[in-house]
Amino acid sequence: MSKSKNVWEEFFADKKCGGHRSSAEEFLSKEAREKLYHLNGGKTLLDFGCGAGELLVYYAKEYEKLAGADFSASMLEEARKRALERKCENITLILADDKTIWDKVDSSFDRITAAGVIQYLTYEEIDNFIANASRHLNKGGKIVFFDILDPRLYPLWKMGLFSRKTGLWNILLKTGYEICATASAVLKNRPKDILGYSHNPLKIEKIANKHGFDMEYVQSMYYEYKYHAILS
Ligand SMILES: C[S@@+](CC[C@H](N)C(=O)[O-])C[C@H]1O[C@@H](n2cnc3c(N)ncnc32)[C@H](O)[C@@H]1O
Repeated sequence: MSKSKNVWEEFFADKKCGGHRSSAEEFLSKEAREKLYHLNGGKTLLDFGCGAGELLVYYAKEYEKLAGADFSASMLEEARKRALERKCENITLILADDKTIWDKVDSSFDRITAAGVIQYLTYEEIDNFIANASRHLNKGGKIVFFDILDPRLYPLWKMGLFSRKTGLWNILLKTGYEICATASAVLKNRPKDILGYSHNPLKIEKIANKHGFDMEYVQSMYYEYKYHAILS
């Protein structure tokens, strides 16, 4: 991973949704249900990189007190509107990044989670994030990173091997398109798309172990090329 975080801060500066496979409420509620299953209880939760609150508002039904943090003001504004519409009075929204968040929270949490976020952090930043998060985690708490790009499955998905049209011609077309899009993004020094970078689960596990956590690796239910890392 070579791009600095500022590139991502710029990328998300005017974004208004989290890039879910579908933005239909029916889909988001199913996705949130899967995530709530893995979060598995607790009363207080920090959703780091909460974006437009598309999952946070569903978490709010199951937790007493929640904080949503994000470095994108436009995303947080969408989250504010969504929380207001659904009368989620138990959510506090915080404008912060992975470094500043820890000085802005005034309590610790039973669950600290991030969905589709750590792909914008380097391994070193993930290491620091886990170190800081562990200091803000209540006894018996969990850190849950959802939907991390799996470096083994992501290229296959990009080539179209998980899609219905898997003919050789389609695979060549998709691969050619990817090569052009990557070259163009590198030349413009801009991210190619919203997906970010992949992280090897074994490396994430090593970092988790270093901080005293066991890590469970779980395949994502709705994104076949992503996985969840559950640290407890
Ligand atoms: C793909 S979106 C996912 C949003 C949300 N978790 C969801 O699932 O709907 C990623 C979000 O992470 C935020 N983000 C990325 N890197 C961040 C960082 N270092 N600090 C704070 N927020 C970050 C982005 O602004 C964006 O809102």
